[in-house]
Amino acid sequence: MFKPLDGLAPKPKVELDVDGTTVTVAQDRTLAIALLEAGYHATRRNHRGEPCAPYCLMGVCFECLVQVDGVDNVQSCQVRVRAGMKVCLPQGPRAVKER
Ligand code: FES
Repeated sequence: MFKPLDGLAPKPKVELDVDGTTVTVAQDRTLAIALLEAGYHATRRNHRGEPCAPYCLMGVCFECLVQVDGVDNVQSCQVRVRAGMKVCLPQGPRAVKER
């Protein structure tokens, strides 16, 4: 789906953990772009179980929400990847926590 432009120098790579799978991505990417390039075309499922994917890539639509290092609802288009980042792709609604 996505191909880097020809002629650009190869970028250093970093490894992420995406739902327990090690994924190698270019280190200068936002998390949303890195996931798309790695073949994760649906980065979460909504409350009806429908697949959702990053849409605007500029922090407006909130279609790119994922869990990063245990923090829910991170806009993946607004964070840069870093080595060792642990990413969980939401699969529908979360359970309501008791207080
Ligand atoms: S892709 Fe729209 S807010 Fe991230």
